[in-house]
Amino acid sequence: MAEKQGLPAHVGIIMDGNGRWARKRGLPRKMGHRAGANAFKEIARYANKIGLKYLTAYVFSTENWKRPKDEIDSIIALLRNYLDEMENYRKENIRVLFIGDRTVFDDDIQAKMRRAEEQSRNATGLTLILAINYGGRAEIAQAARRIAEDAAAGKLSPGAVDEAVFSRYLYTAGIPDVDLLIRPSGEYRLSNFLLWQTAYSEYVFMSGVLWPDFKPAMLDEALAEYRSRSRRFGGLSEADS
Ligand code: FPP
Repeated sequence: MAEKQGLPAHVGIIMDGNGRWARKRGLPRKMGHRAGANAFKEIARYANKIGLKYLTAYVFSTENWKRPKDEIDSIIALLRNYLDEMENYRKENIRVLFIGDRTVFDDDIQAKMRRAEEQSRNATGLTLILAINYGGRAEIAQAARRIAEDAAAGKLSPGAVDEAVFSRYLYTAGIPDVDLLIRPSGEYRLSNFLLWQTAYSEYVFMSGVLWPDFKPAMLDEALAEYRSRSRRFGGLSEADS
């Protein structure tokens, strides 16, 4: 098990490779997403067990609407089922949050999201953040729009808008930046995930595994890689200063 010391506060995961996992087995893509959802549940539970404070997973992007309708429907069906299981998280002391524009979803889904957030609000273990209908650019644009509205209404002075103020208008207000970003499956890109919050993240690309096969031991591997990195945030390392 990973040691608590040296754990990143916030890990982001791009759950990539569900489609290829299914294709390799001659299965429909939706079976890959189902296996991906199971992998996600196991990793969330493990992250809580080892004492991680924040885990954000990319479930559905603002660009994923370009996929065939039956694939989108299958991901939304998984989301619905998953939301129904979330009661268990209260017992496990996991706090759940959703980021992204949820207003496009059916009312029952929005109500289930609200309920999951409310019921888990006081949990003190892992904060599990699901990015759903999320896009980094859309997030930044909505923050800019709301800042402009507040400035026009006289609630905010334009001169007061700095990085800290801007952050408070993001979906992730109050959540620390991502320390470690993990992407399996051999794609080496951010795909519009947490653009602002990953400015100084360490990136770990794990090309040898597709998301449905991602196991807790692989999270440990990524955490060990993270611990071996020297983070300088634009400054100098201790050895150089
Ligand atoms: C990327 O793999 C994965 C997605 C776009 C969807 C992620 C969704 C899940 C893990 C399941 C839903 C989870 C919950 C918690 C409800 P891909 O389809 O792009 O894979 P490919 O690149 O191999 O085609």
